[in-house]
Amino acid sequence: MKLKLTLTALTLGALTALPASADFQQQPHAAGIETYGYTWNSPDQDMNKALAHKASAQKGATAYKVCKGCHKPDGSGLADAEYPQLAGQHVSVIIKQMMDIRSGRRDNPRMYPFSGDWIVSAEEIADIAAYLNQLPIPGSNGKGSAATLALGKSLYDKDCASCHGKNGEGDGKKFYPLVAGQHFSYLKRESRESRDQGRRNASPEMVKVLKSYSDSDIAAVSDYMSRLLPAKQ
Ligand code: HEC
Ligand code: HEC
Repeated sequence: MKLKLTLTALTLGALTALPASADFQQQPHAAGIETYGYTWNSPDQDMNKALAHKASAQKGATAYKVCKGCHKPDGSGLADAEYPQLAGQHVSVIIKQMMDIRSGRRDNPRMYPFSGDWIVSAEEIADIAAYLNQLPIPGSNGKGSAATLALGKSLYDKDCASCHGKNGEGDGKKFYPLVAGQHFSYLKRESRESRDQGRRNASPEMVKVLKSYSDSDIAAVSDYMSRLLPAKQ
């Protein structure tokens, strides 16, 4: 009898450790940009813990094994499946995005099961971020058709470079992502989702700019961004 109970408990334990169903209902849903009074990047205990950790890229290389299947050993992701390129990304950006995903401010049902602190601790996330940050940007990322690059450049220089940098380098101190060398299809989707409020952790200042963008403007600027490479590489 005792044995049977233990087995049942074990089975239940194993079941609850898995995503609840095909639509991943276990992912939490925290307040995002659609919420009145939403503040972008408001302080988060878990994030502060990761930011304060004295990170080790060497430990990060080991902890990164959980992520490799999707983001690839060199951090280059997958253009077609829209798995972002992570090599060279700012430490602060990787940490913020991870914390937003696991707390439910950014929906990512595919990755959510791999982001919880039962898989990676705040300290391990900091280690992984340090590891990814020092990997070279592959530059073999997916690009657009090149048909509207002149339009893309003029839009980027006017509306995006102030935060994402002239060469797409972003700004780690301000949590602004590096966009250079990122996959075209990912950039396009994130811009569209930010405009349409599907990316719930987006910067309201950026969303204001994107509101006037048509889908073809977004395609043009994304193609341009995907071809940028930071000056110091
Ligand atoms: C099952 C596949 C999968 C696994 C495993 C996975 N990810 Fe992801 N990751 C994704 C997808 C898909 C996205 C983009 C989701 C979207 O479009 O919002 C993403 C997005 C991200 C982002 C945001 C990138 C950006 O530029 O905003 C970071 C950071 C990230 N992943 C880090 C990790 C780390 C670290 C691990 C391992 C602990 C990991 N991922 C494991 C699929 C995965
Ligand atoms: C006010 C500063 C600001 C401006 C201007 C801005 N962005 Fe952003 N952008 C951000 C921030 C901050 C994020 C990260 C948001 C978050 O925390 O998820 C971001 C994220 C992104 C992402 C997702 C990157 C990733 O790695 O997931 C894309 C794509 C993007 N911006 C495109 C654009 C485009 C295109 C423009 C110009 C039309 C633009 N941004 C203008 C601040 C800005």
